[in-house]
Amino acid sequence: ILMKAVVDKDSCIGCELCTSICPEVFSMDDDGLAVAIEEEIDESLVESAKEAEESCPTEAITVE
Ligand code: F3S
Repeated sequence: ILMKAVVDKDSCIGCELCTSICPEVFSMDDDGLAVAIEEEIDESLVESAKEAEESCPTEAITVE
């Protein structure tokens, strides 16, 4: 299954939770908001990427 993560910058409040849960996929951008890698998520990281999605306080993350 090919999965990609997207961060909606209009919703992200820069809490950095996603980057601490799954730093392989999420990082903080220069604007202080999170950004996801462009590439498809490696299968080994899908679970933690989804955990980040569920943990984001503003539901800014979509993993699908
Ligand atoms: Fe932003 Fe949510 Fe991550 S608020 S920094 S996308 S956990």
